[in-house]
Amino acid sequence: MASKEILLLVLCWGLVVLATTSFGANVTYDHRAVVIGGKRRVLISGSIHYPRSTPEMWPDLIQKSKDGGLDVIETYVFWNLHEPVRNQYNFEGRYDLVKFVKLVAEAGLYVHLRIGPYVCAEWNYGGFPLWLHFIPGIQFRTDNEPFKAEMQRFTAKIVDMMKQEKLYASQGGPIILSQIENEYGNIDSAYGAAGKSYIKWAAGMALSLDTGVPWVMCQQSDAPDPIINTCNGFYCDQFTPNSNNKPKMWTENWSGWFLSFGGAVPYRPVEDLAFAVARFFQRGGTFQNYYMYHGGTNFDRTSGGPFISTSYDYDAPLDEYGLIRQPKWGHLKDLHKAIKLCEAALVATDPTYPSLGPNLEATVYKTGSGLCSAFLANIGTNSDVTVKFNGNSYLLPAWSVSILPDCKNVVFNTAKINSVTLVPSFSRQSLQVAADSSDAIGSGWSYINEPVGISKDDAFTKPGLLEQIKTTADQSDYLWYSLSTNIKADEPLLEDGSKTVLHVQSLGHALHAFINGKLVGSGYGSSSNAKVTVDFPIALAPGKNTFDLLSLTVGLQNYGAFYEKTGAGITGPVQLKGSGNGTNIDLSSQQWTYQTGLKGEELNFPSGSSTQWDSKSTLPKLQPLVWYKTTFDAPAGSEPVAIDFTGMGKGEAWVNGQSIGRYWPTYVSQNGGCTDPCNYRGAYSSNKCLKNCGKPSQSLYHVPRSWLKSSGNTLVLFEEIGGDPTKISFVTKQLGSSLCSHVTDSHPLPVDMWGSDSKIQRKPGPVLSLECPNPNQVISSIKFASFGTPLGTCGSFSRGRCSSARSLSVVRQACVGSKSCSIGVSVNTFGDPCKGVMKSLAVEASCT
Ligand code: GAL
Repeated sequence: MASKEILLLVLCWGLVVLATTSFGANVTYDHRAVVIGGKRRVLISGSIHYPRSTPEMWPDLIQKSKDGGLDVIETYVFWNLHEPVRNQYNFEGRYDLVKFVKLVAEAGLYVHLRIGPYVCAEWNYGGFPLWLHFIPGIQFRTDNEPFKAEMQRFTAKIVDMMKQEKLYASQGGPIILSQIENEYGNIDSAYGAAGKSYIKWAAGMALSLDTGVPWVMCQQSDAPDPIINTCNGFYCDQFTPNSNNKPKMWTENWSGWFLSFGGAVPYRPVEDLAFAVARFFQRGGTFQNYYMYHGGTNFDRTSGGPFISTSYDYDAPLDEYGLIRQPKWGHLKDLHKAIKLCEAALVATDPTYPSLGPNLEATVYKTGSGLCSAFLANIGTNSDVTVKFNGNSYLLPAWSVSILPDCKNVVFNTAKINSVTLVPSFSRQSLQVAADSSDAIGSGWSYINEPVGISKDDAFTKPGLLEQIKTTADQSDYLWYSLSTNIKADEPLLEDGSKTVLHVQSLGHALHAFINGKLVGSGYGSSSNAKVTVDFPIALAPGKNTFDLLSLTVGLQNYGAFYEKTGAGITGPVQLKGSGNGTNIDLSSQQWTYQTGLKGEELNFPSGSSTQWDSKSTLPKLQPLVWYKTTFDAPAGSEPVAIDFTGMGKGEAWVNGQSIGRYWPTYVSQNGGCTDPCNYRGAYSSNKCLKNCGKPSQSLYHVPRSWLKSSGNTLVLFEEIGGDPTKISFVTKQLGSSLCSHVTDSHPLPVDMWGSDSKIQRKPGPVLSLECPNPNQVISSIKFASFGTPLGTCGSFSRGRCSSARSLSVVRQACVGSKSCSIGVSVNTFGDPCKGVMKSLAVEASCT
């Protein structure tokens, strides 16, 4: 080998080593910040939960996080996935934690590993494997020997795995922080003294694992030293850690909120989210994590609850499918840049708070060496206020923070969005079923009926009504409660026959009641009350009558003190009530026969491979308990794919044998209570901003591209209530070809245009920038442009009372044919259409 080549090889190898081990650093902390390799850092973090997407999606999600200005990716570790059976581990595919951590490292980002192992997270059973429940004498999350032994074993297992792969920063890896437990402080009072000693034990146990990086406990004001107690919430600016030696850290800044089946869709305006972040850094914070940065999907039966939907979109900066959500992603990216311009001053000193006036707050970080950064906040919800600071005046919109990296120039205001807005578009296509005319009447579908009642050999009989979770061990959502009983011909109940009522009380979560093989009714709980009480009018016949009650869970409880004790299923009473003469037959303590799961689950119908699929007879529609199967071609292109289940009732779906989760398009949210658009000014809460009222909570269900082949894919559904599978369609989602921006003449200059050193150069006036979302697109037309007082929002802009006649031609000339363009928002560019009035420029453009 020539020496030049050797040199090149050595150089390349050096680069690889550098790329993967550039983290090699001691991580400590002090009062001001997390300290990495001796340097205090301002860190912007975001949560991505690896099993809520696919390994094929991970690199892109991580890259978009990096591009959005994140330094750290945070994830929980999901015990129930990794140890489904005690001592049998699974770290494959979507569960490949090591691969995920390594991909984050390759992108040059750090990791915060929240081991828990209790995680909450709207995840089934809060992340605990169900077998834990069956360990004799166990009590979860308290000073209980059997529990502590299991928690320690799993935590140590994960730490060892990370150490073996050299993934801690102390070993040259990306992991700079780990979390033990999760928000125990919110509920510990219910555990009394044992709760206090449990937390001490958990802290000691974690520390003994010797990771070489700091541990945190969130929402745990008594976290023992040296564990850092951190804050979770919509705002954490008022939080102070429990020791002056610990930095102020925010582990969960909820970027939106989770969706429940039966609920409306929550969203959080980015102006408020940015306000919360800026307030936190203003008041001394130096580490902040978005929960979630990418929410993703609860595939399979992983969603918690009960009633957590399959989508875990969370209104996060990256949407469920991994597409950037604009302007949220872009506005936060600008915010992160602005904060980073202040980093040197922020980590160097404590702030001072010169007084500005009521509802106003100025904060100054000024160092002896001449660095100065400041934040100016207006926390009033109504009025914009002009303030004087250091001899200059600043207009502070209500509920906003301005960031001044040099204590003089505003580079960012949380309420003024420079980023583009993209309205995503959906293309619909019918299911390209491989039309075989022999399929059930040429529909392309075949089916199998799931038997009503007991059909499996492992069914068993017991007197009385059993709690469901103990009975099924969550091997399935379904538990049959079946009873055959004789009704005597002279039974008074029969006298007023049709007025008999079947009364069932269940702890939840849903129930389908069949009498003599026919569905007589269904009942559901909701996310606020899982219990189900039903009274179905029924008709009984003299002689033998069969009662088959199908009870089902929709995600196991994941939150609250003693949450693992929340039962489910029909705990009774089950009664027959006659309306006329007050007769009442209680069936509760009879000999009930139980079956966990469905026949089709036992026979692995989800794989599609059974020989029982019927493609010859008429396809049953709107009938309960039917398995459906079809073969289809993937929608063309590479855009993310979803199935629209409109037309179906409730069930679960599998694509090529992989569960895409529970579907339930018939669970519609209540009509009232939505606010869309929502006023971002004022404190946010999880039900403040809701959309989609009166509509299905979720009708689109993500099918990851990597689960699809170009043709010959199998889709299997199990429908509980009744639906018409021929109504199912595909949707692909793309960042719309339309992009908008609306910038006022009082907006700060885009943060990109500021120098990153301390000498910030003032450039003239605000600028409106457009950039096509996809690399191979150019701006092809300008649909709307008005400089003056334009009205409306993206997609519905209109001219106001004043508009420059040059608006359209100026914007066209600057933008059409280019991938991106920037236009000065000022009278210099457009002339002055109305003197003395605050003006803005609104543009809607198309990319092709
Ligand atoms: C927190 C919890 C998270 C998640 C969040 C709500 O209390 O720590 O795991 O459940 O609430 O999305």
